[in-house]
Amino acid sequence: MSTVKSAVSLDGSILSVRLSKHPKFGGVFRIDQAENRQLATMSLAPGKTVYGEMIYRIDGEEYRSWDPYRSKLAAAILKGLEENPIRPGSRVLYLGAASGTTVSHVSDIVGPKGVIYAVEFAQRSFRDLVENVCKDRPNIVPIFADARFTLKYRSLVPSVEVLYCDIAQQDQTRIMVENMRTYLKKDGQYLLVVKSRSIDVSKEPADVIKAEAAFLERNGYTVEEKIRLEPFEKDHAMLIGRKKEQE
Ligand SMILES: C[S@@+](CC[C@H](N)C(=O)[O-])C[C@H]1O[C@@H](n2cnc3c(N)ncnc32)[C@H](O)[C@@H]1O
Repeated sequence: MSTVKSAVSLDGSILSVRLSKHPKFGGVFRIDQAENRQLATMSLAPGKTVYGEMIYRIDGEEYRSWDPYRSKLAAAILKGLEENPIRPGSRVLYLGAASGTTVSHVSDIVGPKGVIYAVEFAQRSFRDLVENVCKDRPNIVPIFADARFTLKYRSLVPSVEVLYCDIAQQDQTRIMVENMRTYLKKDGQYLLVVKSRSIDVSKEPADVIKAEAAFLERNGYTVEEKIRLEPFEKDHAMLIGRKKEQE
């Protein structure tokens, strides 16, 4: 259900929009303005933008538009994701937080009852993450660490329901598997962003994606969804799955 609402954007202009909950995913919204439909999340840090996104004030709440060209999770949703393991209240280990573009929306989705353990090893990005995003969002625990050294953050991270991996490394699937063995709950789920050019520029993206999926299967994980992210991200895919039940 959606009804026409008046929204005030941060620059003070008054717009006529339709706001609706996403039909499948808790914590995700849609804002329709004339012919334009956007994804959005309800802001946990009113008055703050993270990457210059549009902000709408509707009925006393603030909603941040979620740009699929800047966030691969938004791209996957628009490309037909069937199940989003990241829900209100989820505990998420996020590898490759960068300066927090997607992390900030995940923070909105999981809300005050959820938590994101956000791992990043580049100093500059980590500083931006802490100063521009974590300061206003108590549900993010920023961790300055290399995701290859899984046990280095063992004292900070409990078992989690979701592991999100977007580190654009050649051996990223192996790194994610190591992290899943340490941190993912038995019935937890993963989301893996595959950037085929970071893995092997000489191979067809479809072959790289297939090989990464086969690696996960061999290591005891299902691959339930494989979503290509074009036109939002060239030669990228999102894989989603979980630990296989013991045969
Ligand atoms: C593609 S960017 C992530 C974008 C981010 N997920 C988003 O959507 O806003 C990849 C990030 O992973 C980080 N990274 C790469 N290898 C890493 C590692 N081994 N440990 C921690 N961070 C890593 C990079 O520094 C970079 O910031």
